[in-house]
Amino acid sequence: MNCSPLTANERLEKKILSRRRFLKSGGLLLTVGVLLRTGSVFAAAERQLRDAFQDDFLMGTMIDPVVYLREGSELAGVVAREFNSLTAGNIFKWDHIHPTEKHWNWAHADAFVEFGEKYRMHLVGHPLVWHAQLPIGLFDNPAKPGQTPAILTEKLQQHITRIVDRYRGRIHVWDVVNEAIAEDGNWYDNHWYQKLGPGYIASSFRWAREADPAAKLLYNDFNLWDERKRNKTVEMIKFFKSEGVPIDGIGIQGHMGLNYPDLKELENSIEAFSREGLEVHISELEVDVLPTVPIGEFPQYRSELDPYKDGLPKEVDQKLAQRYKDIFSSLIKYRDNIQRVTLWGVSDDRSWKNDFPVPGRTNYPLLFDRNRQPKRAYDAVIKLK
Ligand code: G3I
Repeated sequence: MNCSPLTANERLEKKILSRRRFLKSGGLLLTVGVLLRTGSVFAAAERQLRDAFQDDFLMGTMIDPVVYLREGSELAGVVAREFNSLTAGNIFKWDHIHPTEKHWNWAHADAFVEFGEKYRMHLVGHPLVWHAQLPIGLFDNPAKPGQTPAILTEKLQQHITRIVDRYRGRIHVWDVVNEAIAEDGNWYDNHWYQKLGPGYIASSFRWAREADPAAKLLYNDFNLWDERKRNKTVEMIKFFKSEGVPIDGIGIQGHMGLNYPDLKELENSIEAFSREGLEVHISELEVDVLPTVPIGEFPQYRSELDPYKDGLPKEVDQKLAQRYKDIFSSLIKYRDNIQRVTLWGVSDDRSWKNDFPVPGRTNYPLLFDRNRQPKRAYDAVIKLK
């Protein structure tokens, strides 16, 4: 088991070793070499995020197929230049990679891994078990009613084993279970929970470990700065430790806004998970600048909910930069505990935040603008180093 509590020094030593091993495996030099060979050289900014934070944490981004399938594109160039860790946004989700019982869709996942390896990226597989983006019929197939817990358990085990085994030694980190805890601090009442009880979570970690003993295994969730979710996560970690269930870290997703969360609460969660001896990964960071709507509501598009469709006013852009600066200041403080910080996308035009929770809005949540240029927020972050 990998989760015995470490002293602060042991943790720091382990983390520095693991990051150095990765960076010094030649990643950066080889990446430049590949860029030169493929002719994908862009006017490099003076410093890149990954270099600026190399003593702190890995700098990652989520990508979608448009990046790894269009290698010479400007977007792919930004990715190769700025980041050293990649997460695939959707292609490992069950409905994509395993749409029917016998059908596996490997092409995208293979292409993602090959792209990542070519640029010597640290690779994150996301997610193995989730309640969303499941194929129709996995739980309630009218043609085959009565899925027993035993059948579902076997399906889940096969799903995890087959994927993790295929990328054994190539994907460095797995989001094994995603979003299993509800806002009230109870288990999220999803199909897995209803059919199998909470035991599906521990089993999933065990199967993932068996399939690739070297991969880091994370529990990944949003709003983990909320006290109720934090406490439930710590309770789960303690239970895992007592039962010998393998877990290496917690992915704090990091879907934030200009005014939420209180960064003190984020820091409390980083401390709480670190106290249990786990790595912390900030796995899906972005900052929403648009008017918020109550959680769980999905209003129709209305122009008053979309105030910046013609451009972000300078004062809001400054607020965004300040917010990113504050967030990264907190993260740097905890750099001994944080292994990786991943932005949930590269440039504003491709963010899911343009369509969630209100479709068709114009949002500005990331570090690169719609022309793939670094924003004021990028400068604010990089100037911290
Ligand atoms: O692939 C289909 C395409 O064939 C179809 O034409 C198109 C029409 O809408 O939809 C495409 O699928 C979309 C998919 O993204 C790929 O683009 C889905 O509709 C859309 O719902 C899906 O959204 C994803 C979302 O998860 C929903 O599961 C976002 O891209 C993705 O960024 C987001 O990521 C999640 C993390 O996995 C977990 N944490 C929260 C985060 C944000 O919701």
